[in-house]
Amino acid sequence: MPKASRKKRPSFEEMALPQELLNVLADQGFTRPFEIQEAILPDALAGRDVLARAETGSGKTLAFTLAMCARFRGRKVHRHRPLGVVMVPTRELATQVVDTIHPFARAVGIKAQLVAGGMNVDKQAAALKHGVEIIVATPGRLIDLAQREQLFLDRVETTVIDEADHMADLGFLPDITEILQHIPMGTQKMLFSATLDGVDEIVDRFLVDPVSHEMVPVAAAVATMQHHLLYIDPSVKRQVTAAIAARKGRTLLFTRTQLGAERVAQELCEVGIPAAALHGNKQQGLRTNVLAGFRQGAFDVLVATDVAARGIHIDDVSLVLHVDPPETMKDYVHRSGRTARAGKAGLVASIVLPHQVDKARSVVKKAGVAEPVEAEVAHVPHDALGPLGARKPAGEPCEDPALTKYKGAPRKLDIRGGKGANQRYAEARRMNEKLREVYEDEPQGRSARSLSKSSRGAASARGRGAAGSREGAAGGGRGGRGAQQRGGGFAEGRGQGKGRAQRGGRGGRAR
Ligand SMILES: Nc1ncnc2c1ncn2[C@@H]1O[C@H](COP(=O)(O)OP(=O)(O)OP(=O)(O)O)[C@@H](O)[C@H]1O
Ligand SMILES: [Mg+2]
Repeated sequence: MPKASRKKRPSFEEMALPQELLNVLADQGFTRPFEIQEAILPDALAGRDVLARAETGSGKTLAFTLAMCARFRGRKVHRHRPLGVVMVPTRELATQVVDTIHPFARAVGIKAQLVAGGMNVDKQAAALKHGVEIIVATPGRLIDLAQREQLFLDRVETTVIDEADHMADLGFLPDITEILQHIPMGTQKMLFSATLDGVDEIVDRFLVDPVSHEMVPVAAAVATMQHHLLYIDPSVKRQVTAAIAARKGRTLLFTRTQLGAERVAQELCEVGIPAAALHGNKQQGLRTNVLAGFRQGAFDVLVATDVAARGIHIDDVSLVLHVDPPETMKDYVHRSGRTARAGKAGLVASIVLPHQVDKARSVVKKAGVAEPVEAEVAHVPHDALGPLGARKPAGEPCEDPALTKYKGAPRKLDIRGGKGANQRYAEARRMNEKLREVYEDEPQGRSARSLSKSSRGAASARGRGAAGSREGAAGGGRGGRGAQQRGGGFAEGRGQGKGRAQRGGRGGRAR
């Protein structure tokens, strides 16, 4: 539990940090280090390799931010040659982490730069040309810039891999390995996650005598979270989802697929709950805009795929709803961890259909939840939804909040521009609905016969449409093929990055 108050912790003043950093900490109202910060700072400041596992929302970002800023204080860099590299799996997380680093970096006279896909590459290259001490990068864009010879890693002294277990998963490993091979051996490497397992390959190859700081068992649930399992029939799934989404307070819903996220957000808007969708197949500007609106409290419901499951911090998300169950215990831990952060309380609810009961129970148990609140919800309203703050939705349709431009959105963003991902989703959805109607209209016997033939068509139509693809934990174009086709060093020539991205089919993976 990250609370500074549970036992007497030293103050930041006692932690050998430069005064400039102490000033920023005081400005931000941080008085005492959280457990993971207290644990890793001495080793991190001494330049040692670190493996850090600590629960979601426990302050890992500030831990490596302070360590890097203290180490690079007042240093000057060569053009194109940063001293510190932070790697993260998604663009949203990269933006969030660089925003966390900025005030601390400024205070010690250094610069931090975002290096992430979906944003202007020339601007990022220009910043690197002027020289920046720290880059916060998604692996794909980092490699692209290195191949353009705008970024060289031969002066890197500290490398942080945030969400390291996720980054070590199949699709990311070739990129990470390629990057680490270009960073001098023996320089500091730090790996962070709430579920730091499966990183042996990276550790064995690239770390030297790392110190391990593991605050909790992999599966430990955050103590301030309360978990609910709602056993329902498919016929009430829409109403249950809407009743929970209609609650007061910031609510984050997770779906399995991109199309699912769009569909649920649209259904909620139809019953008067302003809800926007966030997933990896949306144009980056629209993603940034939606997240900005949600962060600013312009609307209270965000429906996301696993692209928002790792590392994203949004103040005061008071309930996470798993509309579709997560694939694994780790996915459950990370998705749920978007609430109950930094010692605050939070609710987590899972909608469980009859065929999902065993898996849902096992996932929750593996996640270390001793006694989830379990209830069968046959109809709405229902008593079991009371503790979740469920309410009757307004009923009157409202506008999709994704169609408003929020502060922080890219200046040139064309919110209503017709040809974007949203239109494709709408088309894919209409197509799926038509297909469904065909099945539902057909008499039993014929439907069974035609299913084998036309189901192939339907399945491949679904498979083809990017809209239906899953992303995050195990799918969504994270396939090893695209990643493995690459190989080779950074200096492959400029055209390479683009060609690769097209061949690799990495649409579902946010870079
Ligand atoms: N010492 C501190 N005192 C008070 N608040 C803190 C402190 N350190 C971090 N925080 C706050 O805790 C929140 C969660 O931090 P952070 O995002 O770093 O969590 P995390 O451990 O990286 O979680 P995740 O595993 O989900 O990525 C942030 O809002 C951060 O500002
Ligand atoms: Mg984090």
